[in-house]
Amino acid sequence: MPSKRRWADEAIRALANQDQGLIDPRIYTDQELYELELERIFARSWLLLGHEAHIPKTGDYLTTYMGEDPVVMVRQKDGSIKVFLNQCRHRGMRICRSDEGNAKSFTCTYHGWAYDIAGTLVNVPYEKEAFYDKKEGDCGFDKADWGPLQARVETYKGLIFANWDAQAPDLKTYLSDAMPYMDTMLDRTEAGTTVVGGMQKWIIPCNWKFAAEQFCSDMYHAGTMSHVSGVLAGLPPEMDLSQVQLPTTGNQFRAAWGGHGSGWFINDPSILMAVMGPKVTQYWTQGPAAEKAAKRLNQMPTQTMFGQHLTVFPTCSFLPGINTIRSWHPRGPNEVEVWAFVVVDADAPEDIKEEFRRQNIRTFNAGGTFEQDDGENWVEIQRVLRGHKAKSAPLCAQMGLNVPNKNNPDFPGKTGYVYGEEAARGFYHHWSRMMSEPNWETLKP
Ligand code: FES
Ligand code: FE
Repeated sequence: MPSKRRWADEAIRALANQDQGLIDPRIYTDQELYELELERIFARSWLLLGHEAHIPKTGDYLTTYMGEDPVVMVRQKDGSIKVFLNQCRHRGMRICRSDEGNAKSFTCTYHGWAYDIAGTLVNVPYEKEAFYDKKEGDCGFDKADWGPLQARVETYKGLIFANWDAQAPDLKTYLSDAMPYMDTMLDRTEAGTTVVGGMQKWIIPCNWKFAAEQFCSDMYHAGTMSHVSGVLAGLPPEMDLSQVQLPTTGNQFRAAWGGHGSGWFINDPSILMAVMGPKVTQYWTQGPAAEKAAKRLNQMPTQTMFGQHLTVFPTCSFLPGINTIRSWHPRGPNEVEVWAFVVVDADAPEDIKEEFRRQNIRTFNAGGTFEQDDGENWVEIQRVLRGHKAKSAPLCAQMGLNVPNKNNPDFPGKTGYVYGEEAARGFYHHWSRMMSEPNWETLKP
């Protein structure tokens, strides 16, 4: 960590300290620290780019981002996937300017350099006349040297992740003990998952960590305040609302390594019911598909879990049962661009797939009721943090700190009470390590 900013060193060290549970608010606003995040976190972590179903055929592509770096993700002839920087090596123009499509090649719109679907530079206008060639001993220009930068690509149960860093551990090592918690959404059936509907994109003027940390650790906002009106409004009209109690039983999971976290309520479907309605709730928790999932995921008592949230560090978050999955693409310290899509069991009936899509639009989407509850909080925090004094005192992340014996042995890994901040502390601890340790040798699990 460059020591120009002593406070940043101190903030990072404080977040690495498990005994304190203190957050320096400047980590959400500082431009210099943000630049370091792009280098140390976003250029070194496995980042979610999409789902295999987004690009099923040869030449299918999706343009997206790794941090602030634009990338193209393309299905190859052999079925593999390439991800390369969406930057022409001539003057840096975006190579592909569409959101998605099918291509045989990509031609830069500035001077016409053309790349094949693997990102190899295959055509340079007037190459012979203007660059000459090696045989004539002139420019020394060789097309083979000028393809865009390539990222590592790996998939996990349909999800496509990429990483710029050759030293980073492989994806499964990186996901580590978060995998069983991901499987509750991704591996309920041997058919896997597919995508329903399109990629929804919107901008929230807040730091990316508010969103990622909340999905990692924060069930507290759902059971106390933020979503209460949404839950009450979303419950079926025949329910007696005066009898409705918000859930208090559940657990939180903190990954042993890597900053991932999850949380869920136990045996209380009220929040899932309010968000997704009775049809999806029934499908997810009681029908034959749910029984099959429970058998398949035998490590995990899935039929007792409701309203699960999860973040794979740093910016891949999802809600099993609601089935929104998103990347929080950072856009400076004060803004995040959300890219969200919906996955469903690939063998689910068509009407269930449609119901997942429809209910997500109603709730966890750009204009969704629950999404707005969350975004409103993050935007207001970011506005408050424009003040000087607002950045001068630490924020409290001490819930459940050093509380023994709250582990629930029914679930894999380290778990605690659902209303806790252990997973948040794990998130920031890993953040602090990524920010302060420049070398994967010391960071590996
Ligand atoms: Fe792409 Fe010149 S910038 S061809
Ligand atoms: Fe929320």
